[in-house]
Amino acid sequence: MPKSFYITTPIYYPNAAPHVGTAYSTIVCDVVARYKRLTGYDVKFLTGVDEHGQKIQEAADKNGYTPQQWVDKMSLNFTTLWEKLNISNTDFMRTTQERHINSVREIVKRVNDNGDIYKGEYWGKYCVSEETFVPENQLVDGKYMGKEVIDVKEVSYFFKLSKYEDALLKYIEEHPEFIKPEGKKNEVVAFIKQGLQDLSISRTTFDWGIPLELEEGHVIYVWFDALTNYLTGAGFAKDPEEFANVWTNGTVNHVIGKDILRFHAIIWPAMLMSAGIKLPETIAAHGWWTVEGEKMSKSLGNVVNPAEEVEKYGLDPFRYYLMREATYGQDADYSKRAMVQRINSDLANDLGNLLNRTIGMQKKYFDSKVVLNEVTDTFDAEIKALWEEVLVNIEKRMNEYQFSEALKEIWKFISRMNKYIDECEPWKLAKDEDSKDRLSTVMYNLVEGLYKIAALISPFMPDTAQKMLNQLGLEVDAEKMKLEDVKAWGAYPVGGKLNAAEPIFPRVEFEEEPKKEYNENLTIENPITIDDFSKVEIKVVEIIKASKIEGADKLLKFIVNTGKEKRQIVSGIAKWYPNEQELVGKKVMAVLNLEPVTLRGELSQGMLLTTTEKKKTKLVIIDNEVKLGTTIR
Ligand code: ME8
Ligand code: MG
Repeated sequence: MPKSFYITTPIYYPNAAPHVGTAYSTIVCDVVARYKRLTGYDVKFLTGVDEHGQKIQEAADKNGYTPQQWVDKMSLNFTTLWEKLNISNTDFMRTTQERHINSVREIVKRVNDNGDIYKGEYWGKYCVSEETFVPENQLVDGKYMGKEVIDVKEVSYFFKLSKYEDALLKYIEEHPEFIKPEGKKNEVVAFIKQGLQDLSISRTTFDWGIPLELEEGHVIYVWFDALTNYLTGAGFAKDPEEFANVWTNGTVNHVIGKDILRFHAIIWPAMLMSAGIKLPETIAAHGWWTVEGEKMSKSLGNVVNPAEEVEKYGLDPFRYYLMREATYGQDADYSKRAMVQRINSDLANDLGNLLNRTIGMQKKYFDSKVVLNEVTDTFDAEIKALWEEVLVNIEKRMNEYQFSEALKEIWKFISRMNKYIDECEPWKLAKDEDSKDRLSTVMYNLVEGLYKIAALISPFMPDTAQKMLNQLGLEVDAEKMKLEDVKAWGAYPVGGKLNAAEPIFPRVEFEEEPKKEYNENLTIENPITIDDFSKVEIKVVEIIKASKIEGADKLLKFIVNTGKEKRQIVSGIAKWYPNEQELVGKKVMAVLNLEPVTLRGELSQGMLLTTTEKKKTKLVIIDNEVKLGTTIR
């Protein structure tokens, strides 16, 4: 029986539409899944959506849906896109499914039976957007990775994560293939060595989650729930035979982005250890995609929509570009210029031309029939030797998740085949009846090479592989091909007949788009009209006197000349101007039609405009020659 290979994507939050980052994770898994099928494995490929938690509940509320209606609607964005991207997943997980709820209950029970759950209280920061508890020392300017955090104080059940520190370090050390790539592994080890804290695994301040059976009113923390989806997809708590086959005796591989490495390389294995379940073979973390050199974000309006890209460039070029451009594990940049360059050079020129020239010549010289009266030359030995080398390297690169390197190997072979045409000069051989047999050999080798190339690219570009097979006159289903059948030189059946040549990759033009210098899709929060604005009277005034206020060490009082009259204005800037006399004679901006107020016993008849940066507040001083009383608008 073929050995089982199980591969998973992260389950995405269905709140936001999928984009180039999520598409990349999913395409990576698809490429691996297809490669493993090609090499004879029985592949299970799971993707899905992460439907519980506070973030989902808040989004549902905001949009006027119940959480269930909301995830029913939003998860369709994912199923639709994956179909469009030719993703060959064998399962789609939704964490609201019954099978998953049972599976989460089972793992909680096992962890609890093992004595690893206790009741306590969580008191600290929580980031809803990342659904994570945030230790104080990870806050920067009060935010976690630039995202808002809230204060949480609630009774909670905890998982004894700290208990697994040593076991995790030992496991990682003994399994060098566990965390890929190497650099990411070192990050995880360093993090564990700082010491692990126990993890709160239940929440009580909202209810959109799986109820914790230990106590009414608690729902299971969304990450504890989400990670378990990988077990659910393997038949955990449902089908022991399937689970033994897929999980316990098979190879389990998680593909994730670097943002969620700690959940997968620390919390997840600890959960499995506690529950007495085998750990996955591989956790492969990839880097981050930026877009034209900038972070992808809704507020910048530069989020790449994969469906639109596929419309523009075609599906296989899009898949190829992502896999070729990124070095797995490192960040990569999505750029139009690079995309166009890859399509024209790698796809249209190198691969497209090789296919086209070969089919064209076969038609011309042999009426499209593939004949072979073998007369060999040194070039033939060279291409065959290179093929053997490529086969070995491909396997190595694919198993290391180094897809870009794997593609380079294939392209090495494609380039060599193009060179082979130039070396053998079929057009010269065709002129001489005596070299007809040599010509048949050269043409056979070209057809054979293309058959092999179709097999190797099929995980990356399944449609293209199928088109190539069709043009090569083979009645072979690209998805059912086995590399084993194509490996040896001579796989192409002599006597076959090629079909008409059709270009597989049209060239594309690079159109320099005027670089957008601003975001046209901004949403303005709390907008006002110009009429609202003109209600505010802002004028240039001159400070003619400045003094401290007794008993109010934050405040300064000023006498200002508005050009029409003198007023007193109080301002909370004493801390930033210990020598307030330096302000006398300065021209500043003041709001003059604010209702007067009394601050610490002093009348204030307006407000001076200030800026606050890095917690320092400064007056906006006007240094040009503008007249007193000039209106600012
Ligand atoms: O974290 N570049 O879901 P999520 C590359 N539900 N990959 C990117 C990316 C980018 N710019 N942006 C997102 C969650 N990704 C949890 C996962 S798993 C048990 C639970 C990809 O919707 C990348 O794979 O925030 C990342 O890990 C994932 O989207 C996060 O998706
Ligand atoms: Mg995220």
